[in-house]
Amino acid sequence: MSKEVVVSGIRSTGYLHLGNYFGAIQNYVKMQDDYNCYFFVADYHALTTLPDPKELKPNVYRVIAENIASGLNPEKVALYVQSDVPEIPELYLMLNMLAYKGELEKTASFKEKARSQPDNINAGLLTYPSLMAADIIIHRAHKVPVGKDQEQHLEMTRNFAGRFNHRYGELFPEPTAFNFGEQLIKIPSLDGKGKMSKSENENATIYLADEDDKIRKKIMKAKTDGGPTEQNSEMPDYIENIFMLMKLVSSEENYDKFLADFNKCEIRYGDMKKQLAEDMIAFVSPIREKAANLQNDIPMLQKIMQAGKEKARASASETLANARKLIGINY
Ligand code: TYM
Repeated sequence: MSKEVVVSGIRSTGYLHLGNYFGAIQNYVKMQDDYNCYFFVADYHALTTLPDPKELKPNVYRVIAENIASGLNPEKVALYVQSDVPEIPELYLMLNMLAYKGELEKTASFKEKARSQPDNINAGLLTYPSLMAADIIIHRAHKVPVGKDQEQHLEMTRNFAGRFNHRYGELFPEPTAFNFGEQLIKIPSLDGKGKMSKSENENATIYLADEDDKIRKKIMKAKTDGGPTEQNSEMPDYIENIFMLMKLVSSEENYDKFLADFNKCEIRYGDMKKQLAEDMIAFVSPIREKAANLQNDIPMLQKIMQAGKEKARASASETLANARKLIGINY
């Protein structure tokens, strides 16, 4: 039986962080043996926020290196850059004819960006969901490992794929967002406000490239309070966030000990954060070191990107030829 197809991408807009790791990359690594996987750096998507041209290239190399350092094996998956696959923008153009202004304007990510960059509400931002749909359905994907923030984009992808099938004939499966833990996750920021992010709350976001001391400082500054006053009381969300991070990187014993302390009103958040910081360092530092080494070998990264591009284009050109035929572009 042929393997199910998996597609996912990461924008090349900054340093990767724990949200990218636990929301996306960890799932990529777990899926690479059992699925036919396509993972890419979304450099066209990055253009919606006008990155400095000088930064784009190192950002793309870094995302590739950080994916490999996190355990992705480029021999098992297609690891490529979005702009290396011209079939994607061609399918994007086709999907834009099926995407309505009203639904694009209602997208949460568009509304958020329109608020945060009012001087640059460009058409690329508006049509972000149709480009993302093209990224996914160009390989006729079934599963898309992403964090919770991408749920709405996946719903729109299914709508566009379904609309294409309905109008022109069956071509695309309807892909679903995926996480091994069943539910999509959101890694919260350390200040208790919102999620970890590439561009916002830098001091409350832990990056895979952070040095040990920086990790320590960020965690020690995480928001806490005087501790619970009643046994087994409910946790405020900023405390729950710290426990969530501990669950991800610490041993079960450490987690259980602090949870028991919390429930007995004996918790010392200073000690908990110290423990979390050391466990976090043990988790992040090998990825950081490996990614740094990989970034010193640009020819090797270029070779990986070239091989990824070839695998991705082989699959994409087949889909696009079928899409053109169904639309009637075969003169
Ligand atoms: P991006 O680049 O913002 O993030 C990459 C991946 O990391 C996940 N993520 C998080 N997960 C949990 N908690 C967080 N705090 C957190 N922050 C980020 C994201 O959900 C994502 O899985 N539009 C996408 C990129 C994209 C894409 C695609 C993804 C373009 N085309 C096709 C999948 C398929 C984005 O901006 O992700």
